[in-house]
Amino acid sequence: MHVLTVAAHKGGAGKSTVSILLAALFAHARLRVVLIDTDEGQNTAFAWASRRALAQPAVVTIDSTARLTDLVGAARRHGIDFCLIDTPAGYSAMGRAAVEAADLVIIPTKCAAADRWALRTTVEAVREAEKPFLIVPTDVPPRRLGREAPELRLLRADLPDLASALWNGQLTGRRSIGQSIAEGRAPSEVDWRGVTSAECRDLWRRVMDAVPTGRAGAYAS
Ligand SMILES: Nc1ncnc2c1ncn2[C@@H]1O[C@H](COP(=O)(O)OP(=O)(O)OP(=O)(O)O)[C@@H](O)[C@H]1O
Ligand SMILES: [Mg+2]
Repeated sequence: MHVLTVAAHKGGAGKSTVSILLAALFAHARLRVVLIDTDEGQNTAFAWASRRALAQPAVVTIDSTARLTDLVGAARRHGIDFCLIDTPAGYSAMGRAAVEAADLVIIPTKCAAADRWALRTTVEAVREAEKPFLIVPTDVPPRRLGREAPELRLLRADLPDLASALWNGQLTGRRSIGQSIAEGRAPSEVDWRGVTSAECRDLWRRVMDAVPTGRAGAYAS
């Protein structure tokens, strides 16, 4: 089993969105996945699940770090393939415990100046915990003529030392993402062939490449 923690100290960085769209793709690939919503204040992932017609992915909420440890242990015993953990913003005992439990930390970030400035604190905390991580640019303006938006180029320029940990793709900012989530669905479930769905699958494959499952590339592009 692999534990993937989605973490960013900055509020609104895209943690819940990335957790949801990845969890939906794990479920689509028939992998056994549990999405653990540790953000008691908002429970975005749980609210999403409660609007869903489909039973997968399983989404559970927890309210203590002890419960997180119990749940990850139970998932391991029950042959779950992936635990995805959505975390609250800010420094919190829950966020730290979720990073501690992780095999890989996924760090979503938007690209505005404030987001770029805040990113380092998350990266430092994850490094302190000695966890591998993947930075995922989200809500990025679209490419023009194949060229990345200036905001994303600034983000990449800010992180010359982290180039290998910064996903070379992007999740483009599109209203359809929020709309599908509001309906209890994921972009891949609304329009599998659409550009948003293709970006989500690219991210999923990048995540699969980062964990030793041998299942990477299960989707045709
Ligand atoms: N690729 C995207 N396209 C459009 N909107 C996006 C994208 N990524 C994130 N957003 C929007 O940004 C907002 C914040 O996203 P989200 O709730 O996933 O962040 P979060 O890090 O979980 O926030 P919090 O810190 O409050 O838990 C939401 O309105 C979401 O729809
Ligand atoms: Mg959230």
